[in-house]
Amino acid sequence: MPLHVLTHPLAAHLVTHLRDKTTEPATFRRLTHQLSLLLALKATHDLPTREIPIDTPLEHTAGRVLIKPLVVVPILRAGLGMVETIVDLFPDVSIGYIGLERDHTTAIARSYYCKLPPLEGTRILLVDPMLATGGSAVNALDVIAQRGGQDMHLLNVVASPEGVRAVEKAHPNVPIYAAALDRELDSRKYILPGLGDFGDRLYGT
Ligand code: PRP
Ligand code: URA
Repeated sequence: MPLHVLTHPLAAHLVTHLRDKTTEPATFRRLTHQLSLLLALKATHDLPTREIPIDTPLEHTAGRVLIKPLVVVPILRAGLGMVETIVDLFPDVSIGYIGLERDHTTAIARSYYCKLPPLEGTRILLVDPMLATGGSAVNALDVIAQRGGQDMHLLNVVASPEGVRAVEKAHPNVPIYAAALDRELDSRKYILPGLGDFGDRLYGT
């Protein structure tokens, strides 16, 4: 499945301010919400709809409504910063949670929490701002697929080529939506140029 990198100039503007090391957590959170909105719109552009009859104040006509249930699954903790926007856009969305934490020395993700709603027949938006080695995303997609999830879409703010390759290898049918595709990983598996530790910057830790 192709990688979709946002091309809207607003996305580049927002990512640039996110990268800036002087950006404070309050602004960082607002920028994350704005980027999540752009990513969510892109990742749902093909949602199925059904025609329904409707009466406007002036005449009888036809409209279209969404028919596929939506599930958003943030990878804790940084993914939480992307959820509120999606709930605002799609108030009926169900929310699952997957807790994964990278080991600081090995960069391997360790699972510490998982709670998912029914997934069958739904469009699943897995949200995690950073796709670095891809270990966290692949782990989460594995779990979602094991629980019956099929129509999975991955939303990242910043992706690395290594992470994209890892997801494409393990889950070739999962489209990846990213606001930026960065150059590479450093020796500690941080994304370059990147923006540092997303969770720490989001929560001021
Ligand atoms: C960060 C980020 C991703 C993961 C990406 O989370 O939010 O979940 O790293 O790295 P990977 O692609 O190499 O797996 P982290 O483990 O630091 O936890 P946090 O969200 O609690 O800060
Ligand atoms: N997780 C982050 O928060 N930042 C990176 O650069 C890599 C993983």
